[in-house]
Amino acid sequence: MTFKIALNFEDGVTRFIDCNASETVADAAYRQGVNVPIDCRDGACGACKCKAESGQYELGFYIDDAMSEEEAGLGYVLTCQMHPRSDCVVNVPVSSDVCKIRQATLSASVDEVRQLSPSTISLVLQGPGIDKLAFLPGQYANLEVPGTTRTRAYSFSSMPAEGKVAFLIRNVPDGLMSGYLTERARPGDTIRLAGPIGSFYLRDVARPVLMLAGGTGLAPFLAMLDKLVAQGGSAHPVHLIYGVNTDADVVALDRLDAFKAALPNFSYEVCVVADDSAWPKKGYVTAHIEPAHLNGGEVDIYLCGPPPMVEAVAHDLRERQIEPKSFHYEKFAASV
Ligand SMILES: Cc1cc2nc3c(=O)[nH]c(=O)nc-3n(C[C@H](O)[C@H](O)[C@H](O)COP(=O)(O)OP(=O)(O)OC[C@H]3O[C@@H](n4cnc5c(N)ncnc54)[C@H](O)[C@@H]3O)c2cc1C
Ligand code: FES
Repeated sequence: MTFKIALNFEDGVTRFIDCNASETVADAAYRQGVNVPIDCRDGACGACKCKAESGQYELGFYIDDAMSEEEAGLGYVLTCQMHPRSDCVVNVPVSSDVCKIRQATLSASVDEVRQLSPSTISLVLQGPGIDKLAFLPGQYANLEVPGTTRTRAYSFSSMPAEGKVAFLIRNVPDGLMSGYLTERARPGDTIRLAGPIGSFYLRDVARPVLMLAGGTGLAPFLAMLDKLVAQGGSAHPVHLIYGVNTDADVVALDRLDAFKAALPNFSYEVCVVADDSAWPKKGYVTAHIEPAHLNGGEVDIYLCGPPPMVEAVAHDLRERQIEPKSFHYEKFAASV
């Protein structure tokens, strides 16, 4: 039996490896050209200590000097001893270049570019490599702007299916990628993509989840919800608050409604900042976070949007004196 192991490096790069049930994660990594930190290979030195974010595994043999019982209880593993029993996500506490990994790159072609509203564009890429593109839902890739050597970061807004993957992109006035997508993009154009990257991804749903999306910050949540549907749902409530500036920015409601139909524990609401909005809920997402959504802190919060939104939500949680079980965020910062 073979399992997929996602190795997340400190610099945000993720590399997926296959690991047989009978081999250790370190052996599998080396077999596939990923030189994870290692020394004794005997469970004696601790050089290969990593943190397992999720998955079932056997710790194997090790001595207390290499890893304490407390560390094992916290999810630490020694990759030279670890045998997976399911797909796993493992955080490797070094940068990917230390492990001699080159970021995976792929040439894809434009399948469709659709303006969903004046402010928002849907881009679908296709190609033979897309279905094999392994990423954790919520991660992003760097897309090269055709005709230039510049790249822009975009979160996957779907999981790969039938050789295609989608992105949800804000139309930034005078923006390089925005200009390409609105003026020149044609089906068949080649776009180079490097990734997956990022530590913003959906962990095991072990308690209620609150998702907070600002504008096209909705993108990674669409991929996460795709994944939840593929997994057969969630045992805990998942609530999304989707905030935008104006009514014209509200997009992808068809997908959100389809998720609502497919996931009995999923609910969502939309709020719009503009006073003249036709939507009943006005203002920023922070105005619509109810105590029930925070579940007294027993909640995993995922937040994606422009940098000021991330600061505003962090400030709001401090004001409410809520310390969520976990708080993951992605800032859609402008490229420099
Ligand atoms: C990890 C990560 C993931 C991202 N994922 C997404 C995504 O899924 N969808 C998405 O729409 N964007 C996403 N972004 C933002 C994206 O990478 C680009 O910055 C954005 O799309 C603008 O690219 P552009 O080439 O059109 O404009 P640029 O040529 O980069 O910018 C043109 C001008 O607009 C300004 N500008 C750029 N972006 C913004 C902004 N957001 N707000 C205000 N001014 C801005 C620039 O400073 C510049 O002056 C992400 C960013 C990061 C860091
Ligand atoms: S390499 Fe020494 S404990 Fe794993």
